[in-house]
Amino acid sequence: MTLNRKRGAILISGRGSNMVSLLRAAQLDDFPVEFTMVISDKIEAPGLGIATSAGVKTHALRHCRDGREAWEDELHQLLTDGEIDLICLAGFMRLLSAEFVGRWAEKILNIHPSLLPDFPGLEAQAQALDAGVSEAGCTVHVVTAEMDAGPILGQAKVPVNAGDSVDALSKRILAEEHQLYPALVAKYVQDHWTTEEPVHAG
Ligand code: GRF
Repeated sequence: MTLNRKRGAILISGRGSNMVSLLRAAQLDDFPVEFTMVISDKIEAPGLGIATSAGVKTHALRHCRDGREAWEDELHQLLTDGEIDLICLAGFMRLLSAEFVGRWAEKILNIHPSLLPDFPGLEAQAQALDAGVSEAGCTVHVVTAEMDAGPILGQAKVPVNAGDSVDALSKRILAEEHQLYPALVAKYVQDHWTTEEPVHAG
């Protein structure tokens, strides 16, 4: 049976290691998403070159002087023209407006390097170390208007070791991110789309 794969876009701002894990997973025949586009809000994001080398269409959508609304309209148009079903944020550092999120409700996923609801926002790994927790980890969640607060799809835990630096802890968490995100993207799509017809936002 041929799998009716959904069309995915990955949004990045930086190095794109989670993007790579998603693109790799999507090479498997039974992965339910085909990532057809990578979009960065930073023209210098190293992940853009990696995506291009992997044969994926890329777009650098720089912040414009006309403000967030115009930028999000452009993003929405790109995604709509590309008939995108699912958006995966992967180190995408820009906050999306409630209006944009509403237009793509339940179609945007994110990975965050903490065990949400603990330590939302920036520098989650440093927040975890400062708080003195013994366990840290990462969370995949559905994106809602409130930052890092949407329904949680799953988490992976790692120990915090005595004397851990932010770098050491971040690396330990990142290794888990690379496993967790593709697995939960696949599960979300399989659970969420029960019909054979793709659902496009508009
Ligand atoms: C990851 O830790 C991710 O959880 C967070 O930003 C970082 C992005 O890393 N949202 P990369 O660009 O995927 O390597």
